[in-house]
Parts: sequence; C-alpha cells; structure tokens
Amino acid sequence: PVLVVDYGAQYAELIARRVREAHVYSELVAHTMPVDEMLAKKPLAIIFSGGPASVYEPDAPHIDPKIFDAGVPILGICYGCQLMAEELGGDVDKAAMGEYGKTSVEVDNSSYILNGSPAEQTVWMSHGVQINKAPEGFVTLATSPSAPVAAMADPQRKLYGIQWHCEVKHTPLGQNIIENFLHNEAGIEDNWSPKGLMEEQIEKIREEVGDDQVICGLSGGVDSAVAATLVHKAVGDQLTCVFVNHGLLREGEVEQVQHDFVQATGIKLKTVDASEEFVSALKGVTEPEAKRKIIGDLFIKTFEKAASQIVAEVGEKGAKVKWLVQGTLYPDVVESGGGSGTAVIKSHHNVGGLPENLEFKLIEPLRSLFKDEVRQIGTHLGLPDYMVWRQPFPGPGLAIRIVGEVTQDRLNLLRRADAIAREEMTKAGLDRKIWQCPVVLLANVHSVGVQGDERTYGNPIVIRPIESSDAMTADWFHMPYDVLTAISNRITNECRGINRVVYDVTSKPPATIEWE
Ligand code: XMP
Repeated sequence: PVLVVDYGAQYAELIARRVREAHVYSELVAHTMPVDEMLAKKPLAIIFSGGPASVYEPDAPHIDPKIFDAGVPILGICYGCQLMAEELGGDVDKAAMGEYGKTSVEVDNSSYILNGSPAEQTVWMSHGVQINKAPEGFVTLATSPSAPVAAMADPQRKLYGIQWHCEVKHTPLGQNIIENFLHNEAGIEDNWSPKGLMEEQIEKIREEVGDDQVICGLSGGVDSAVAATLVHKAVGDQLTCVFVNHGLLREGEVEQVQHDFVQATGIKLKTVDASEEFVSALKGVTEPEAKRKIIGDLFIKTFEKAASQIVAEVGEKGAKVKWLVQGTLYPDVVESGGGSGTAVIKSHHNVGGLPENLEFKLIEPLRSLFKDEVRQIGTHLGLPDYMVWRQPFPGPGLAIRIVGEVTQDRLNLLRRADAIAREEMTKAGLDRKIWQCPVVLLANVHSVGVQGDERTYGNPIVIRPIESSDAMTADWFHMPYDVLTAISNRITNECRGINRVVYDVTSKPPATIEWE
C-alpha cells in the first residue's frame, strides 16, 4: 500500500482518498506506529499528513529518521513537510506571518512533483511555521511570501515536501501533484479501483458471515442501498432488509424503496410504518440536537423491534441473526467525532444513535469511502441511476429542515415545496451539478406578504443548493435565475402559507449544509 501517516490532520483521510483517486491503494496509519511496523507493510510510498503541532515545540510528534533511509519515496504535506525538513537538518521556524487560505506561489514547474504546474498559481495554505532553508541534498521547488521553501525535493533519496494542501479541492492542480509523486517519482502503477474494493469486500463479508443471518436498515438513500446490495451479493437470501418509514421522508421516497429498489435487487424487505410515532415524539421539540436525539433513539427502538421479530422468525428455522449492515461513510464517522480527536459537529443518526449494548456485530463495508466512490460501486453493482445518483438526504429527514416544531401539516407543506424545487431542478438538468439542495421551512419565522390583494402573514421557504465533492466542505450553488424564478413562483402559488422564498448563499464552513 501507500501509507498515509496521520499527524492529526483534518484532511488525513482526504489524502488517502486522493491516492485512491489516482488508482493506488492507500491505508491510513497513526503517527505513533513504529517505523519498523510501517516498513513491514512494505509501503510503495509514504505520505506524511499535515497536523496542528509546530515541529520545533517540545511535544510535537516526530518520526524515527531511519524512515528516510529506507529507500521508500516519501511526500510530506504541510506539517509533514516541516517535519521532514526539521528531521533532516533544515531550518524551520515560526513564520513572521502565517498563510491561511488562498495564497499565490511561484513554482519551478519543470521539476518532479510540480511538473506541469503553472509557474505562478494560487494554492490553499494553512500554516504558521515556515521552512527557511531546506536540508542538505534538497532543491527548493516553490516559494511564497511566507514560505521561503514552499516545496522541496531530494530526487536522490526520493523525498519530497510541499507546504500547501494539495489534497483539498481548493488547490486547483493539487491532484496533479499527488499523481506526479505516485506515478512519476515513486513509479507506482495503477493498483486500485472501486470495483476491486467491492470484490474484496464481498469476499470478506462472505467469509466472516458464514451461515449466519444478516439484517440491514434501508433509508432510501444511496449509502444503505449500496451497502445492502453489496452484502446481498455476498450472502444472498441470508440478508433481510428493514425499512423504517419515519414519516420524515420526501415525496415518493417510500414507494421508491418499497417497490423500485426491491424490484431492482430482489432483496427481502420488511417495512415498518412508524410515521405517527415519530411525529408525536417530536411534539413540542424545537432544539436541533434534541430532535436528532429523539429521532435517533426512536429509530433504533423501532428498528430493534423489527429486528427481533426477524430474529425470532429466523430462529424458528434454527439460524442466527448476528450481523447488522450499516451504510456508514467516512464523513459520517469524522463529523460524529469518530475520527481521532475530531470535534462533534452534529450527531449524525446512523453513527451517533447506535445503542451501546448492540447485540449485533457490525458490517460497514463503506466506512472508508466518500460518496462518489460509493456511487461508482453502486453502478458496478448494477443499481439503477435514480438510486445511485440520488442526492444525499439526512437520516433525520425533513424534521431537521423544519426550523421550529415538527407537525404533520408542516411536513406536508415542506414535502410539497421540496418536490416542486426538485422538479424544477430536474427539468433544468441540474441534478448532477448540484450535490444536494435542502429545502427548509422556517416555521417560526413569519413575514408579511400580499397575495390576491390580501395581506398574508406566512412562513418563508429557504432554498439551499450546494456544490460539494464530499459534504465536508461546500460552496453555495449558483442557480440560474430562471430556475430560481420558477421555483419561487410555484412554491408561493402552490404551497398555501408560504409567502416568501429565500436563497441561502453561505458556504460550509461557516454554515453547515443542513440548517439544523
Ligand atoms: P451538515 O449539515 O453536517 O451535513 O453539513 C453534511 C451532510 O450530511 C447529511 N446529514 C446527515 N446524514 N444522518 C445522515 O445520514 C444525519 O443525521 C445527517 N445530518 C446531516 C447532510 O444532508 C449533508 O449531506
């Protein structure tokens, strides 16, 4: 594999994913792993991630310098670059001025990892430490105002360092740098594909599960659909899916799961309609985390009840249900505080809501993947496009898109407004350009309007289309005005009680994608 050594970066898994995008298999390891253990994995190359520490501070994490003599090509990114410089005798110090965000660099664009880069370009930096002088044997490949050595290379030992974050999409030619390193400098050939991963997972699941029975919760979304289909390929009819209709889905979604998905895959499905229970449990609740908690808990309870019925039924035939499939993706794991030392932003319900005394063992075949990788796998598995390309939708559903108390009437109103917005976006051919578009009802905000010569005092609907590649960061989507006009006209005409439509123009960060 290519090892990505995590120095506590926010983006370590992102680096691992960029490596996979270059069709090279990668694994993430902690910086505390002894170098001998790293080398025992026979890495084709190693990448040091960024991290929050400053290399010259006493507690800063280090690396045994023998790694540099192991003959393995190494790329250090940000902290990783500074670490490489420090360990090998370069001059590293606090920067007079940090560089955060878009920064222009001057690049020797004929060489090594920067081959093919523009001589002057804007990249994404985030550092308060600078390398004043590269170590012996290194040439400087780039400089910026606050980074005298913004990129460096020792081609003899195949050691490379880069100060900016080439793994984030805000660095335009970042992927190019990673590919130069892997393919041209380290000489690694393509050895990974989602299809390969899929086959590996199917084999692994088949082996681990043996003759046991498996259950899986379907949500209507691409993640659980792909996870279920993958497991179905591995264990066939040993899998039963459970679909809890919590009444917080969008128009047409219940039908999509109950008929279309089952038809496409042939998977056994048990549906539970618990919509009334969920709405009454949410009565009077307005605080977002409280809503999430209630939905998460009730969801688990409902699911467990259905599961224990399945367990009982199956048990009569002498088999055991031991496994639970979850469509957890990497961003879910990180944002629920599941990465090493990352903060809880929101309790995502497919991770945070799991009971501690879980009777099942978990199968999470998509846990290391991002959405677009999951989509590729879905397509390989033969799932229909409408399923694979369905835009992400949060587990707690429309409940977290009603700011204020959730009621049946408000759900119906929002469901219609959301369907209208989706219809117009589809008509305009925007489905694949937009990552997702929350439509939000501000139930506790009222404004004055005039409709048919009458004064109205109604609620606004927020349209929040965004562009993203992994939901970790997002930009607001520049929707053509005619599409906005059509959405606004139709919602105010067709949804009684809505007299205003507003457009959310905030990126993530600082906002999150959902309003709650
Ligand atoms: P935020 O709002 O945190 O959303 O920027 C990031 C992505 O996650 C989706 N989301 C969820 N997905 N369970 C899920 O399965 C949840 O509880 C949940 N909350 C948010 C959101 O739609 C976006 O794609």
